[in-house]
Amino acid sequence: MKGKQVLLTGGTGGLGLGVTPAVLAQGAEVTIPYRTPKDIEKLKGILSPADIARIHFIPANLEDEASVDKLISRMIHVDVLIHLVGGFSMGKTHEYSFYDWKREFELNLNTTFLTCKYSLKNMLEHGYGRIVTVSSRAGAEPAGKMAAYSAAKAGVIALTKAIADETKGTNITANTILPSVIDTPANRQAMGVENADKWVKPESIAQVICFLASEAAKDVRGAAIPVYGSV
Ligand SMILES: NC(=O)c1ccc[n+]([C@@H]2O[C@H](COP(=O)([O-])OP(=O)(O)OC[C@H]3O[C@@H](n4cnc5c(N)ncnc54)[C@H](OP(=O)(O)O)[C@@H]3O)[C@@H](O)[C@H]2O)c1
Repeated sequence: MKGKQVLLTGGTGGLGLGVTPAVLAQGAEVTIPYRTPKDIEKLKGILSPADIARIHFIPANLEDEASVDKLISRMIHVDVLIHLVGGFSMGKTHEYSFYDWKREFELNLNTTFLTCKYSLKNMLEHGYGRIVTVSSRAGAEPAGKMAAYSAAKAGVIALTKAIADETKGTNITANTILPSVIDTPANRQAMGVENADKWVKPESIAQVICFLASEAAKDVRGAAIPVYGSV
């Protein structure tokens, strides 16, 4: 990814704290949209000044189409989209609110659609692109109390495969990854540390993402790759 323009969404989140350093280590120029300025400081705390100098932080709400359009128009171009933004909530279907159902789709599927749509327009103009989206194990293996999250992440798989089909015959690829439980501070806080050694590390997921975003993966299209660790 040396010299490549990378749009890395969610780059300051729990997974992002593992993925952002890995993408920078490949020599990329990285644009990270953000909503919460204090998360930027957390990310900067684990990076060198030289790495920080290769990041452009731009405020954006990826649930808003005009905001996504504006974000991408501020980039020179988009060679690589790595879309980490997403979120999780759970509950039995008969007790789950319609508001929360819609939130899961906004956060997980609609942000993926909008960032893919505007990145893809840009990639088609200059004839190169790598799109990596983040689904979840639940997207391929739906589980109880996770109907909304599972359905939204299944949508991410479907969207990514459809883009891969649309871009056949070009130098643009689209693939998705399916993490199980990720070893993030938020998960340690929510579930305790008892099983944390079995969870997949952000740094490990980052290596899979970097491969899919690289020249070497030019013939990998429409894959949904399980990254489960030992869970
Ligand atoms: N954690 C897990 O165990 C796990 C398992 C399987 C899959 N995944 C998937 O992996 C991805 C990353 O998860 P994570 O644990 O790193 O989540 P996270 O810590 O909550 O990070 C999510 C990031 O997305 C940003 N974001 C959320 N809504 C946004 C919006 N509308 N516009 C712009 N930025 C927005 C957040 O910024 P703010 O802080 O400003 O909101 C945050 O930086 C998600 O897609 C998740 O579904 C996670």
